[in-house]
Amino acid sequence: MRDFNNAKPCLTGKGVTKTFGFGDKKMNAVDHVDFNFHEGEFVSIVGESGSGKTTLSKMLLGLISVTEGQIDFQGKPRDISTNAKKKEYWKGIQAIFQDPFASYNMFYKIDSVLLDCLKMRGDGSLPYEKKFELMTEACSFVNLKFAELTNKYPFELSGGQMQRLMIARIFLLKPKILLADEPTSMIDACSRATILDMLLKLRDEINMTIIFITHDIGLAYYVSDTVYIMEHGKFVEYGPADKVILNPQAPYTKRLINDVPKIYEEWDLTTV
Ligand SMILES: Nc1ncnc2c1ncn2[C@@H]1O[C@H](COP(=O)(O)OP(=O)(O)O)[C@@H](O)[C@H]1O
Ligand SMILES: [Mg+2]
Repeated sequence: MRDFNNAKPCLTGKGVTKTFGFGDKKMNAVDHVDFNFHEGEFVSIVGESGSGKTTLSKMLLGLISVTEGQIDFQGKPRDISTNAKKKEYWKGIQAIFQDPFASYNMFYKIDSVLLDCLKMRGDGSLPYEKKFELMTEACSFVNLKFAELTNKYPFELSGGQMQRLMIARIFLLKPKILLADEPTSMIDACSRATILDMLLKLRDEINMTIIFITHDIGLAYYVSDTVYIMEHGKFVEYGPADKVILNPQAPYTKRLINDVPKIYEEWDLTTV
């Protein structure tokens, strides 16, 4: 657990709001949230299904508009008003999602996934030997063997392997921020611990800011420096993970913790 009070701000929000619907059906899926994420900080956003986590993450990624409020990226107002500016922003923030297969064209071979990353970071014209070296390194970072993956299609991989490949992508792209929206909820328990450890390793090696979105306060406790607890589109409590989870103040946080009987016990990695 680190102290981020003096760390550089990476992504900051003031009064960030998303309203869906019109008239009587109008509702704030995200309701005036403030946040301050720092360089190298592992942040979890925790809340039950429907609390607004995915809507917030889509606004952070610039995939949907912000109804009200402001987002600053690296100390300056975020500007994603044109496609070119959006592309530039996406060099700084990348995501992995719940279903690693969903965002992928199934007929696209594994090699091309990684080759595309090299192109995106401006290494498209390197000699193949050098590219091979970089792809091999990225795969070994996530304990995959590149030589065994070449010429394979995504459907030939398990969910855990595919999610690791998505992390290898992040390793190559090295964004400032990684947003991970429930990245372990569709994979088996054994791969889950591995994925979390890889996220922690990414943070440690590249000083990446990780925004980890989960409904599981136990997982959040295990990985985060800071947690934000989200209920009905609002942050009801936030702070250092130890403080919030071992000494919760909001009734909602207390309830989430009561649903996880194991939280005060030592984490057994095999059952995470
Ligand atoms: N495109 C949309 N149009 C209307 N309502 C939406 C839309 N997306 C999400 N919502 C609503 O916003 C609320 C928050 O949803 P979501 O952000 O997906 O929550 P979470 O990821 O925490 O489960 C829910 O009530 C959901 O029905
Ligand atoms: Mg969601």
